[in-house]
Amino acid sequence: MNASFDIAHKTALVTGANRGIGKAILTSLVQHGAKKVYAAVRSLDSAQPLVEIFGDTVIPLELDMTKPETITAAAAVATDVELVVNNAGVLTQTNALSSKVFDHLAYEMEVNVYGLIRVAQAFAPALKENGGGAFVQINSVASLKSFPGIATYSASKAAAYSITQGLRETLANQNTIVLSVHPGPIETDMATNAGMLEGVESPTVVADGLVAALKVGNPHLFPDTLARNVWHAYEGFAKAMIES
Ligand SMILES: NC(=O)c1ccc[n+]([C@@H]2O[C@H](COP(=O)([O-])OP(=O)(O)OC[C@H]3O[C@@H](n4cnc5c(N)ncnc54)[C@H](OP(=O)(O)O)[C@@H]3O)[C@@H](O)[C@H]2O)c1
Repeated sequence: MNASFDIAHKTALVTGANRGIGKAILTSLVQHGAKKVYAAVRSLDSAQPLVEIFGDTVIPLELDMTKPETITAAAAVATDVELVVNNAGVLTQTNALSSKVFDHLAYEMEVNVYGLIRVAQAFAPALKENGGGAFVQINSVASLKSFPGIATYSASKAAAYSITQGLRETLANQNTIVLSVHPGPIETDMATNAGMLEGVESPTVVADGLVAALKVGNPHLFPDTLARNVWHAYEGFAKAMIES
């Protein structure tokens, strides 16, 4: 049986919690009974509306994925964390033949991959200290299938998924469960700016799906309609090669 994690009465931290999917995740964690949620954001002001809604259940913390010192400083404060959701991410619309390809790939790798590694390294000791808990990484269907107009983003999300797989086995040694989340098009600024207007679904399907997946201990979550179609094709490989 998979290990599981119930958010009720627990303390969590969400990166990029101020808007989009991260805001929906923070909201769902509070609604499902979290004791405290650290909103880890680039600008503390951007988390103020969440404090106004949820009061002192939400603690804003400065965290910039590209500034390692802010990540270690956040980890030094959030020593009671039992769930870390690494959600912050960036997307440029860059194909492989673009003149900007190296700059844009470097930027997406910096935030989406190096940032993930920095967050995992900074918070793993607290998760261990607090009994194991859970680590969630927001990946993408683009972790599995490259989309040519967002080729560099797809490459960064494939790399992030690879790191997530490694973390799953490494963190198992300290009883931390790892969940890899792979949304399709979700209605946020990122999707709108990338021109994804058709077939987008609400960020709440990701957020509520995440809470439910943790509760049953699933290692993967494909939360929306498009993502579930990808999972249908991928599930056999994932069960045989990744989850085993
Ligand atoms: N929307 C989709 O269709 C979709 C699909 C699959 C996966 N995802 C993934 O879901 C996650 C959230 O995406 P979203 O759609 O909610 O995007 P979004 O609306 O653009 O929000 C991005 C979030 O990441 C934060 N962020 C960006 N750069 C950062 C940095 N250097 N340090 C700290 N925080 C930073 C932003 O903070 P600021 O407000 O300060 O910029 C914001 O909170 C991302 O990992 C994305 O790749 C999204």
